[in-house]
Amino acid sequence: MRTQVGIVGAGPAGLMLSHLLHLYGIESAVIDIRSRESIEGTVRAGILEQNTVDMMTNAGVDARMKREGIPHHGIELRFNGRGHRIDFTELANGRGVMVYAQHEVLIDLIKQRINGDEGPLLFGVSDVSVSGITDGKPTISFTQDGSRQQIECDYVVGADGSQTYCRFLIPEGKIRKDYFRQYPFAWFGILAKAPASSDELIYTHHERGFALISTRSPDVQRMYFQCDPDDSVENWSDDKIWNEFQTRVNGPGAEIKPGEIFQKDILQFRSFVCEPMQYGKLFLAGDAAHTVPPTGAKGLNLAMADVHVLARAIGSYYASKSVEYLDGYTATALRRVWRAQHFSWWMTSMLHRFSDASDFDLQRQLAELDVITSSRQGSALLAEQYVGYPLA
Ligand code: PHB
Repeated sequence: MRTQVGIVGAGPAGLMLSHLLHLYGIESAVIDIRSRESIEGTVRAGILEQNTVDMMTNAGVDARMKREGIPHHGIELRFNGRGHRIDFTELANGRGVMVYAQHEVLIDLIKQRINGDEGPLLFGVSDVSVSGITDGKPTISFTQDGSRQQIECDYVVGADGSQTYCRFLIPEGKIRKDYFRQYPFAWFGILAKAPASSDELIYTHHERGFALISTRSPDVQRMYFQCDPDDSVENWSDDKIWNEFQTRVNGPGAEIKPGEIFQKDILQFRSFVCEPMQYGKLFLAGDAAHTVPPTGAKGLNLAMADVHVLARAIGSYYASKSVEYLDGYTATALRRVWRAQHFSWWMTSMLHRFSDASDFDLQRQLAELDVITSSRQGSALLAEQYVGYPLA
């Protein structure tokens, strides 16, 4: 098979990129080692920042999101047992976020690609290998249904997530791998069939540790509390979990509504940035190139922002044969990535309990939350980053 752009990975970055390229009149082929059922059925992130909503809208894949997504115009920061609202509409120029689960975005993008006849999309492939990214003949090889196949292309995009194979195509010495941070805590996450406990997301600081009340749909709630990275889901009965949420999200205006918990997981906390995000004819996008801690919900949105920049750069190459934008991809993408690293780190450090924290540290955190919630400028700084800086 021959195409213009070969894309490894049918997650948010790979699928959105293939659709944007199609809109530019550029052919692509997408492969993924996972099955379509697994991609469409795995519940992951859920908050679309304004840019992602706008990208979906401008790309014409917004019909179901507009019907089923839930716009949010603020969040609550809770500390010392009291909630403080951060009002996005007022503080972030009317921009906001949308609760619409990542797997719903993927279902919409897959349907668009297939129904719109936008090019090959192959699930369940194995033994992926990529060659020729520096000698002018990029080729992706893989096995499907027992037979070895090849995609010859002009460019390869590695959008293959945090378990990436493509990132390792960049040779040692040509890539920085030391932009890495492991945090001394994790999140215990649940999905529950339950009514929403709150109209808006609650981020709570508590002496027992952080908790977050989020949602996926009117009937399905997503909630997290900070835990030890070595904790195990077996240690937590449903009753114990609901008590923990109620304890951490205490005080007026906060009542956790329990329900049937149907998934428990532990999320590790890491920050990672790969530099450069390109090498020869290879470009990385999304989690293949960077990881942020989940506080602030930037992971999916960064993936979308990467492919916004990359699609435009590839589009410019085919329109004018100029590689100027392609050459500038890393610099343009990394500016947003580092801002998101800062935001995710800031939210994390302000709201979580560090095991070695002294009483002084705790009071300092509470003072920071006080400054942010009682100052218009402080709240605006948080709000504009939460909804996302406008795309470059
Ligand atoms: C989520 O719903 O999974 C979520 C929401 C907000 C965050 C992080 C995760 O900051």
